[in-house]
Amino acid sequence: MTDAQIDTFGLHILCIDDSRAQLALYKSQLEGMYRVTAALTYQEAVACLSSSPPDLIILDMEMPQVKGLEFLDILRYTPNYAGIPVIIVSGDERPEDIKQAFIRGAEDYVRKPYDPEELSLRIARLFRLILGPRKAKAESESISAGKAQDLLVRSLADLASARDNEGTRHLERMGPYCAVLARNAAKTAKYRPSIHGDFVERIEQMAKLHDIGKVNVPDYVLHNPEALHGKEFELIKKHTADGSRTVDMIRLSFPDYGFLDFAHDIILYHHENWDGTGYPEGKSGNGIPVSARIVALADVFDAVTTKRVFREARSFEEGAAIVESESGKRLDPDLVEVFTLSLPELREIYERLSD
Ligand SMILES: [Fe+2]
Ligand SMILES: [Fe+2]
Repeated sequence: MTDAQIDTFGLHILCIDDSRAQLALYKSQLEGMYRVTAALTYQEAVACLSSSPPDLIILDMEMPQVKGLEFLDILRYTPNYAGIPVIIVSGDERPEDIKQAFIRGAEDYVRKPYDPEELSLRIARLFRLILGPRKAKAESESISAGKAQDLLVRSLADLASARDNEGTRHLERMGPYCAVLARNAAKTAKYRPSIHGDFVERIEQMAKLHDIGKVNVPDYVLHNPEALHGKEFELIKKHTADGSRTVDMIRLSFPDYGFLDFAHDIILYHHENWDGTGYPEGKSGNGIPVSARIVALADVFDAVTTKRVFREARSFEEGAAIVESESGKRLDPDLVEVFTLSLPELREIYERLSD
């Protein structure tokens, strides 16, 4: 079974550690690939376990009061949690503790300080081993569910195209642009751990949903040729949160549709800027999901190379120069490098899907 066959985006990891800094590290390393919840104490961990049981637990060995191994025992003897895989993380290297972790049912053991890429690879491997057989069984039962997902994405895409930019092929180009960027980014050491499995396929399919929230933006704002300020700009900004809420509502009815989390991130965060000046949350740097960073880049490039009622389209070269000038400002500098290397492939799409 390969990564490509495992759907990781709906997967939920609960990280338990008494160090806030370590929890922040887990969040920055794993978010974007998985849904990550952090618990600083066992009380918080238990609250998370009962409200939203995770698919994997990363557990610090050296917790105050109850030690990690004892908490592992509690999990293993609680029927609802006994099947959740646990990775023990420890700064200690006592061979007895490592053996105990495995004897008591931990799936893996990682020593601090660890290499983040190695941790990601271990998690992916674990999910493959555990979820592979489960997925095979589920797949045989859910071919019709797959069709329902396709239908849902297609309906959402229709909704999105209702507010597409003045009849251009913007939304049609976004998928292939993003797929090229994601595929090439995945070849770099920085992005390899976060772009795997279905990522490229997903972003190709979901990129066109990024502006779905524009259905709520009044025409006089959406088609305003002037730069928007004040109240009108506030109305435009809402399309991110409004769109993600639409997807969240659907998600409530279809809790198994992990792919909707991917759409959620793209829709909510595609206007966040690398330097933190974007909206809606002012996220910055690696705190912005990779998927949204890729969509943001493709969106900027396609926007400037597309004709609008109020201005002509820039040429392919001018568009590329604008993207490059936004490196480290609006856009992720490493992704801009990937973009530059991808220009021949992007040009092919630009020409094939021109307006
Ligand atoms: Fe947008
Ligand atoms: Fe767009």
